[in-house]
Amino acid sequence: MGSLLIKNAQIVTMNAQEEIINGDILIRDSRIEAVGPALDETPADRVINASGRTVIPGFVQTHVHLCQTLFRGKGDDLELMDWLKKRIWPLEASHDEESVYYSAMLGIGELLQSGTTTIVDMETVHHTESAFRAIAQSGIRALSGKVMMDKGSEVPLALQENTAASIQESVDLLEKWHMYDSGRIQYAFSPRFVVSCTEELLKEVQKLSVHYNVHVHTHASENRGEIAIVEQETGMRNVIYLDHLSLANERLILAHCIWLDEEEKRIIREKGVHVSHCPGSNLKLASGIADVPELLDAGSSVSLGADGAPCNNNLDMFNEMRLAALIQKPIHGPTSMNARTVFRMATIGGARAVGMGHEIGSIEAGKRADLVMLNLNHFHTFPSYDVDPVSRIVYSATRADVETTIVDGRIVMENGMMKTIDKTTVLREADASIKRLLKKTTIMH
Ligand code: GUN
Ligand code: FE
Repeated sequence: MGSLLIKNAQIVTMNAQEEIINGDILIRDSRIEAVGPALDETPADRVINASGRTVIPGFVQTHVHLCQTLFRGKGDDLELMDWLKKRIWPLEASHDEESVYYSAMLGIGELLQSGTTTIVDMETVHHTESAFRAIAQSGIRALSGKVMMDKGSEVPLALQENTAASIQESVDLLEKWHMYDSGRIQYAFSPRFVVSCTEELLKEVQKLSVHYNVHVHTHASENRGEIAIVEQETGMRNVIYLDHLSLANERLILAHCIWLDEEEKRIIREKGVHVSHCPGSNLKLASGIADVPELLDAGSSVSLGADGAPCNNNLDMFNEMRLAALIQKPIHGPTSMNARTVFRMATIGGARAVGMGHEIGSIEAGKRADLVMLNLNHFHTFPSYDVDPVSRIVYSATRADVETTIVDGRIVMENGMMKTIDKTTVLREADASIKRLLKKTTIMH
């Protein structure tokens, strides 16, 4: 890949001191070799003049569903269990190899263009190979896995799987894709939620996640109806049940965690479980507002995700940062969830959640080069004089301000142009795919 010198940038490093410096970044192959005020003399294969630009660590979204991007606009104005049963499950059941591929490409295009360089992704039951191909080709960094669903009511036939087959397919995918491209792709076991999974399956996932040392990614305590089902079936609340199965540890990522009791909060804190907060999805599905300030005050790990396109309806970290800050202020007061706190969750916080705090999430020598260059020279982001750059990014900037995105030292978007994804083809095939799926399935209204 060679070397790349980014010159004269404002650099929001997110290093331990959270320094913001003016200077250069030297990238060699996939890593940052040096960050400093004057690396001008260093010979590099390519130089990008970043004067007047702000460079930030790429965003890390710890909960998305690429397989749902094709369903954008197909699940509006519903609450979780109706949203799943009436729309999302029938649509996921109709997916084919090609539709999963274009759904992933559509989502990844949106993510890279809006500054997200790492995702924790949950696919559907079948055709996950297609999503891994899209991830591999696009250059995005991802932890992904096929969703596991070996129980539940009103689940379409095509999504019903038996325990052994679900585990076998997961392990086959893991063995093929985990640590692909020097670890850019990792496997994460993805049991959908307790409602969809037998105890036998969850116990096996626990053993396998220890055996392979990989993450487990699931949903928990998103909706009060969901919790009632879990309590009725297991006699326990979500996080207590997961802990009872020895799943509560630093390899576990739990999306949502809106309705937690004190015992669940204690388990999350003491076991180092990672919470993925998805404010856009939580508002749109009328799920509730997670008590993120309390979790953060307790020292728990909380990062951000957009969830899927049909419950948001974008995959844009600028939206999620803004919402994460604003929704808490009427409850906890204006100083809660300030711009720095939210930006930390969106970058280094997400990196730690995926076990890569030493590799990504900040701009420091030795780390992998996952960087985003912003152009903040616009009416909506000025004045710049004496304004904290992090405030400009969190409260004023938008995805349209992302100019260039680099993942693992590779430029995947430059000056708004996608380098790894053919936009015209993806948009055309996304429409063709959803048209095909809708012919095969009837979604309820
Ligand atoms: N709970 C179980 N499955 C899902 C899903 O696909 N999206 C969300 N938001 N919650 C879920
Ligand atoms: Fe989700």
